[in-house]
Amino acid sequence: MHTQTFAFDVYGTLVDPLEMSRYLQMMVGDKAGELSKLWREKQIEYAFRRGLMGRYEPFTVCTLQALEYALKVTGLSLSDEQQQFLMAQYQQLEAYADVIPGIESLRAQGHRCVAFSNGPADKVKALLANAGVLELLDDVISVDEIKRYKPDPAVYLHLLQRTASRAGNTWLISSNAWDVMGARHAGLNAAWVQRDPAAVFDFWDISPDKTVQTLQNLAEEFSLNSGFEK
Ligand code: LAC
Repeated sequence: MHTQTFAFDVYGTLVDPLEMSRYLQMMVGDKAGELSKLWREKQIEYAFRRGLMGRYEPFTVCTLQALEYALKVTGLSLSDEQQQFLMAQYQQLEAYADVIPGIESLRAQGHRCVAFSNGPADKVKALLANAGVLELLDDVISVDEIKRYKPDPAVYLHLLQRTASRAGNTWLISSNAWDVMGARHAGLNAAWVQRDPAAVFDFWDISPDKTVQTLQNLAEEFSLNSGFEK
């Protein structure tokens, strides 16, 4: 089998942003779940909108502005110190339990593994180092290098350029359906990590090449398909 390049999305795929609801719970009680969900949705929407408008700012700006918006909509208020605390915690998210064994297993099969994120590289590196994942990766690639956002085809082509790999041997691995669709649209292979059994893949004319529940499942798929070639 050819060595494949696996590019892992970060937030929601390697680390769990909804973990923030634990801290939010301490600050706003019962509204934590609603706030954290809206925060995440708005953060992504802001990146989409900034991408479309050609008004790039780092993902950290999208995250902070989304928090301000989500607080206002839910009728909550947090002090600047609390907001800074949350932003700092955002860099301390834990890896999902399957992430380290899954990546270790893919590496043991000889594959190349990189992180590929909307987040700026320095932030993503600090986050992944803290989560114990950075040392397993060959590189961290950020859209910030070209100041565009997923799912702009340009970012997936940038990934290919940075890893010097062919689209047919490159896999985007993401729990975000829109990220999987973006990668497939740009000609890469993509696997959807369905972390939530209730998550629904959009009904477009683009589907994932594989759907897995965990990164360990992904590694198993590749060891089972050792004759697999694309
Ligand atoms: C990322 C976000 C989109 O890490 O999850 O790129």
